[in-house]
Amino acid sequence: MKLIRICLVGAGRAAKVHAASLTRHLPAGRLVAIVDPHAETLQATADEFGVEQRFATLEEALDHIELDAVVITTPTFTHAALAVTAARAGKHIFLEKPMALTLEECDAIARAAAENHVFLQLGFMRRFDPDFSAAFERIQAGEIGQPLMVKSLTHGPGLPPPWARDLKTSNGNLAEVNSHDWDCIRWLMGSNPRRVYAEVANLKGSARGVTTEHFYDHALVTVRFENGTLGNISSICPCDYGYDARVEIIGEKGIMQIGELKGQAVVVCTDRDHGLVTPIFRTWPQRFAWGYIREMEHFLHAIQTDTPPKVGAEDGRWAVASVLAATRSFLEERPVLLSEVMA
Ligand SMILES: NC(=O)c1ccc[n+]([C@@H]2O[C@H](COP(=O)([O-])OP(=O)(O)OC[C@H]3O[C@@H](n4cnc5c(N)ncnc54)[C@H](O)[C@@H]3O)[C@@H](O)[C@H]2O)c1
Repeated sequence: MKLIRICLVGAGRAAKVHAASLTRHLPAGRLVAIVDPHAETLQATADEFGVEQRFATLEEALDHIELDAVVITTPTFTHAALAVTAARAGKHIFLEKPMALTLEECDAIARAAAENHVFLQLGFMRRFDPDFSAAFERIQAGEIGQPLMVKSLTHGPGLPPPWARDLKTSNGNLAEVNSHDWDCIRWLMGSNPRRVYAEVANLKGSARGVTTEHFYDHALVTVRFENGTLGNISSICPCDYGYDARVEIIGEKGIMQIGELKGQAVVVCTDRDHGLVTPIFRTWPQRFAWGYIREMEHFLHAIQTDTPPKVGAEDGRWAVASVLAATRSFLEERPVLLSEVMA
């Protein structure tokens, strides 16, 4: 099988997770270059993963090295320009969520990928997590009957980077933290969202020195799907007790729970007054370790076998549309139809 030569665009937090998958777990891929305009970040990540080719811009990398694909792990407001540049250069694209800031940008990315015959895979790693993918298959097999209601939560530990707190550069936590919930509830319920109502609150930001307009760190969203079923999403970031991502689906015949608070199948007791002690998940790379490896394996396999990846532009676009509707909902203090933002 052909070795897939990858350039990582962005060298920050998500980049390190994909660099680890490519250099330590996936012999089908070779990480040949890293791009980041921030010299210190570029050097630290390239040194950590032993990558010699380093560039400040994607254009420079495209001019100097042979590549098959890019993995884009930059802030959301840069996604559209970078993905379109990569597509026009004929490179397959793995693009981190959220796909982009606006639906116009999503459409530009999808169009560029289609016109240049390159694959586009979105970074929805939960679809590749062993628990989430098993749950999906069991719903498909009819074990709990028709899904009627879904409750999905993602509570993330630290404050997101400054660009991710600002509605102008990221669409906020409902995009940066909860894109995965938006994608999963649509995937697991088998229906598109029709209407959303969001309440948000800034309960921790001021104590942590965040002064960004419209910043929120807690959110609850109610969702009605096109097929009449219901859902909700709970968002907290920063969450002081750890990293928590769980889903409950109630079907006609039963209930299914995905994920748990416990981060390890080890329980210790040394003192009967304090009881049992077991670790909680601390970070997203820890909770979804296998999801990140398996999504990148899927991307490499898609290129090697010339088979389109199973999560792409349409999924990314629905998640962005859902975030835009939920953002309009809390800003205008009313339920918002998806058709209002997708028109
Ligand atoms: N799938 C997941 O679970 C997950 C987790 C975290 C972040 N993400 C996503 O990954 C992306 C990056 O997030 P992060 O937390 O790693 O951010 P980060 O701020 O840690 O890193 C982003 C890096 O991109 C660099 N950069 C900015 N513009 C660039 C450009 N034009 N070309 C190359 N590099 C550029 C910055 O200098 C920075 O080093 C976001 O879309 C985020 O939502 C996904």
